[in-house]
Amino acid sequence: MANRNLKATWTYHDVTKHSYWNVRSSMHYLDWANRPLPFKIYRTLPAMPLPLHGTGAAPPSGMAALAAISQTLVVPVGEVAVPDLKALAQILYFSAGITKKKTYPGGEIYFRAASCTGALYEVELYLVCGDLPDLESGVYHFGPADFALRRLRSGDHREVLVRATAGEPAVAHAPATIVCTCTYWRNAWKYQARTYRHFGWDNGTMLANTLAMCSSLTLPARVICGFVDSEVYRLLDVDPRHEVAFSMVPLGQMSVAPVESRQGIGPLRLDTVPLSKTEVEYPVMQEMHEESSLGGEEEVALWRGLTALTDRPWPMPRTEQCVPLLFSNNDELPPDTIEQVIQRRGSTRRFAREPITLAQLSTLLDRSTRGIPADFLQPFGEQINELYLIVNAVEGLKPGAYLFHRRKRMLECLKEGDFRNEASYLGLEQELPGDASVAIFYLADLQAIVERFGNRGYRAVQLEAGILGGKVYLAAYAQRLGATGLTFFDDDVTRFFSPHATGMSAIFLMAVGKSAKRL
Ligand SMILES: Cc1cc2nc3c(=O)[nH]c(=O)nc-3n(C[C@H](O)[C@H](O)[C@H](O)COP(=O)(O)O)c2cc1C
Repeated sequence: MANRNLKATWTYHDVTKHSYWNVRSSMHYLDWANRPLPFKIYRTLPAMPLPLHGTGAAPPSGMAALAAISQTLVVPVGEVAVPDLKALAQILYFSAGITKKKTYPGGEIYFRAASCTGALYEVELYLVCGDLPDLESGVYHFGPADFALRRLRSGDHREVLVRATAGEPAVAHAPATIVCTCTYWRNAWKYQARTYRHFGWDNGTMLANTLAMCSSLTLPARVICGFVDSEVYRLLDVDPRHEVAFSMVPLGQMSVAPVESRQGIGPLRLDTVPLSKTEVEYPVMQEMHEESSLGGEEEVALWRGLTALTDRPWPMPRTEQCVPLLFSNNDELPPDTIEQVIQRRGSTRRFAREPITLAQLSTLLDRSTRGIPADFLQPFGEQINELYLIVNAVEGLKPGAYLFHRRKRMLECLKEGDFRNEASYLGLEQELPGDASVAIFYLADLQAIVERFGNRGYRAVQLEAGILGGKVYLAAYAQRLGATGLTFFDDDVTRFFSPHATGMSAIFLMAVGKSAKRL
């Protein structure tokens, strides 16, 4: 059971940390002539265009973004919820579709519905479904470039996923499941071995959109991290040296589970366009992936288990340092629909040094942390990342470093002071987190996580952080604020929030504030 060899996580995590010195001494440069293609293109498969091509003007679900990101749909057992092609098209478009194009002297960049490190878009989506009202059963690849599906296999192969997830009930009763894979080179071209962390981040921001869209379409959905990796590669016919399965999301619910497929799943040998002239491999990532792979159904069932992580033995919050979140009435919250918000989302490139209100920050913290339906977060409402904040400018809060007490819905001031310079430094010496109103750092007790989940916990903690960050993007843009994901100097982040954060690892960073562009 490679997953229990916990050294693998620490080896990978430690060698991919950013520090003041290793960032300065890096010899890495971007080889523009060898820039990878941002799309996986099957040369021979015919495109099956999806409805609503490239417009984003689908009939809106009408659900406010702030509701869509915070609600989790519970459909009673036995009730049926089956997506049709239009619903699938909406989910795919607002998860991974092209929402903006920008032309540069050197070419065009196609920006997508969810943020992604370096706009390199290494996450691919596949759909595995039974017969749907207007789509035949099969295994499909989603191509954002022409907004089309391509059928890799025909027939109902959902049972392969049911077995790979050791009978995970959400997968067993799903009419369709989205499988997310990540392609090393597409992101490693720029980020080298740190890319494996980005898999979780970039897959996570995308899943924040997917979950919100499912909620708005009243389709149950769940994030699945535990599966037999090799079975999924075989089904999708991907080569794990280049592309690996990272998560899946069963969509909808039906009472009958799929029967075993009579069609075999032999190799397809489908021709795809090479991403670049040459590719560089980073073995430390492949090792991290292998050592966090699950080998068989029994291991998956054991992994999923029900044991929650015990809460960290934190010192009691000092009441005089605590500020409760300020809740607004629902009718005071912006009503912009989830589709409108995803369509206008982007990453803020410069923040105005202006304050946001405590009510805006409270809405954002509250709505982004109301629970993620996931196989590693049981019971519902568990969370494995903790939120530490640098507050630069929030009306009603003194500038300083804070801890968000999620269960108590309050912020505890750990130290007061103007930490704009520190925020900027910690975010890899970029101005963004120093100029923003607030920088939210996600930290986790990595040792406890890998003890519970093995190395697979490393995938889970990065993925959860990405989902939480993706929800922050949406909660910020719903309130007409700006936001951006950021990278960071790992150990300096922990040091900054210590002694409280002693033993915790920095996982993710978001900056939120008012965009300078709107002024
Ligand atoms: C996890 C994460 C980390 C990011 N880190 C940085 C960063 O350090 N600096 C930066 O300027 N942008 C950063 N970005 C923003 C991306 O560059 C941006 O998402 C990408 O260019 C796509 O643009 P869009 O978000 O406007 O659609 C990050 C985004 C994510 C999701």
